[in-house]
Amino acid sequence: MKVTVVGAGAVGATCADNIARKELCSELVLLDIKEGIAEGKAQDMMQTAALLGFDTKIVGSTNDYSKTADSDVVVITSGLPRKPGMTREELIGVNAGIVKSVCENILKYSPNAIIIIISNPMDTMTYLALTSTGLPKNRIIGMGGTLDSSRFKYQLSQHLNCSPADLNAVVVGGHGDTTMIPLIRLATWNSVPVTKFLSAEQQEQIVKDTMVGGATLTALIGTSAWYAPGASGAALVESILRDEKKLFTCCVALDGEYGQKDICLGVPVTIGRNGWEKIIDFELNADEQAAFDKSAAAVRGMNDVLKTL
Ligand code: LAC
Repeated sequence: MKVTVVGAGAVGATCADNIARKELCSELVLLDIKEGIAEGKAQDMMQTAALLGFDTKIVGSTNDYSKTADSDVVVITSGLPRKPGMTREELIGVNAGIVKSVCENILKYSPNAIIIIISNPMDTMTYLALTSTGLPKNRIIGMGGTLDSSRFKYQLSQHLNCSPADLNAVVVGGHGDTTMIPLIRLATWNSVPVTKFLSAEQQEQIVKDTMVGGATLTALIGTSAWYAPGASGAALVESILRDEKKLFTCCVALDGEYGQKDICLGVPVTIGRNGWEKIIDFELNADEQAAFDKSAAAVRGMNDVLKTL
């Protein structure tokens, strides 16, 4: 198996590191447009192989896509990250051009690859990847909800004083500070609804903190976060390559599901060897559906900006 990670910044490198440590593939290509950075980081990671005991061969490449040939999965992290005070949406002008050309280059050498989009604004970049490549919809997966759901579990675990691994909790909708919808009504702690253990104020706080999870880190660190985004990308790669059919929230093309069409938005999907395989209907209540529709309207507005670029 072969995986390519495009973009050797903090998110791409962390994603590659996770993939290598888990030995998800025999060959891993890290590609970046900046001279030497991918080669350097690939070599640095390879120098952990003896210590960590993995066999994945990591190859760095400065924009030479021929090295990515025949990749099974490609993770795209390219583009600018956000700075403190910036929204993900403000990155659209620069990142749209980058994501479009990366997709074209990738498909020249790996026509059968499954593509995972991490670049922001993630919902619109996923839609752009889908519409510009014309690939079957199951092969384009936006990572956002996987990350947001993991952040949601973290926030819940802080209030419940429990292991995040014991929680089931998903965030649907867009991957934006105001467009994501943490579904606290459906969240469980080993099958018991978390709402049993949390006051209304706590629930409100958890939802709020989850929604601004990325912005909080950007303010603290000075740039966009990378550990959880990188690990989220790697978790999707794992479910694809091992055909695990795990349930993640991912940004995928909707065709009437959750009441929306001609849009890519975060919904629960199974992830396996064919990419995203099945959308699961969580039967939103009226308030949740209204929030989902509002989120769709905001993302659709952002998708319309693509036409003006
Ligand atoms: C974040 C970026 C990766 O939420 O979107 O940290």
